[in-house]
Amino acid sequence: MNKLALKLNRTLGPAAEFLSPAGRRMYFPYGGILGQGAEAKSCKINATVGMAFEEDGSPLVMDCFGSGVNLDKRAFLYAGSFGLPKLREAWRAMEFAKNPSLKGKKFSSPVVTNALTHGIRICAELFAAPGDTLVCPDLFWDNYELIFSEAVGCKVVHFNTFRRGAFDAEAMKAALLAPGKKKLLILNFPNNPTGYTATVADAKRIVSAVRAAAAKGKKVVVLCDDAYFGLVYERGVHGESLFAEFADLHRNVLAVKLDGTTKEDYVWGLRVGFVSFAFRGATDEQLKALEAKAAGNVRSGVSNVTSIGQQLALRAFQDPGYAAQKREKFAVLKKRYHQIRVILRTHPEYGRHFEVMPFNSGYFMCVKPLGVDAEKVRRHLVEKYSVGTIVLSGLIRLAFSTVPTAKLDRLFADVDAAIADFTEDKRK
Ligand SMILES: Cc1ncc(COP(=O)(O)O)c(C=O)c1O
Repeated sequence: MNKLALKLNRTLGPAAEFLSPAGRRMYFPYGGILGQGAEAKSCKINATVGMAFEEDGSPLVMDCFGSGVNLDKRAFLYAGSFGLPKLREAWRAMEFAKNPSLKGKKFSSPVVTNALTHGIRICAELFAAPGDTLVCPDLFWDNYELIFSEAVGCKVVHFNTFRRGAFDAEAMKAALLAPGKKKLLILNFPNNPTGYTATVADAKRIVSAVRAAAAKGKKVVVLCDDAYFGLVYERGVHGESLFAEFADLHRNVLAVKLDGTTKEDYVWGLRVGFVSFAFRGATDEQLKALEAKAAGNVRSGVSNVTSIGQQLALRAFQDPGYAAQKREKFAVLKKRYHQIRVILRTHPEYGRHFEVMPFNSGYFMCVKPLGVDAEKVRRHLVEKYSVGTIVLSGLIRLAFSTVPTAKLDRLFADVDAAIADFTEDKRK
């Protein structure tokens, strides 16, 4: 059991006996992203959190969302457990538009969730039982562990994420083929923490690995966590959701798409996300049954999702300025991405102190300190350099979504210096 859960149970003493097994496993991840972020609150450079800020430090928000807070009274009515019908229709049309490969393929109408975390939790509850296995890259968003392992009691097996600078689809395949009839697989592109999206070649290997497992009789539920959808900055990267590939891949594969406004529309607190389903040969009734399962879970948990948030999202999507504003905000992040590439190219000496993990998209990139533990460096960065970063899976994650372009040079120089503080002394 996780040591934070054990501590809470010890504090509860005999009262812990009231808890269910899942209740006993539950804990709040104080030491994770949230705790590390809190330690960096007053840092001069804060590259911790998965939100985005403008060059002047104000929240990066599109006018079509910001101006919508003045809503009609209908925004206070219940939205229903499936979500607002018009919003679901609008999002489905957008999913088609953003993923041309979905053309001609069948998938459910999206059910509205209280953003992506809630959608992932719904899937964990619908598809994963104690004894089932979630197959997940070893560089992953830590909330997966809390949801699948602690909340639902599902076993989580990690596979090696990168091999020679590319996604390690062979390692993923081996994990899928390991004993156990039913597997869940979670894929998150653009990825948190690495900022990596499968290239076109990776995508082919990933799809054929899942096909091979399915052909060997494995039942695979593929969860596509598309939280950072669309934020791709390089050519040769698979720009569509892999959901389109899995939607009709094999009768042993059920595909789930988790997406929403949070990261791609820069509205982190709005809490509007979606879950959609597909499988080969699915009938309309079968897809509707899956929608009903998801909506039943919503009903039993939060009853329904914020109507105000859904109305705001719908209004923003219908706003004639939506597409242009989205492009404009995308350009802010893309510029920072390219600036980081310039910094890394012009400072080859940084390679003595950290390895740059593959990245091409999203809000983040990661470095692996050489010869010193990442957590030690993170603390030192806060204390000596006033730089806030996050450590996940042994890597230092730098959220360039939060750091103005002008401060990126400083950020990398400080990371380099902080590692040198530990390693140069030893070399002397
Ligand atoms: C990979 C990934 N998936 C899902 C989420 C959850 O997003 P939401 O705020 O919509 O629940 C996050 C948030 O950090 C994330 O990084």
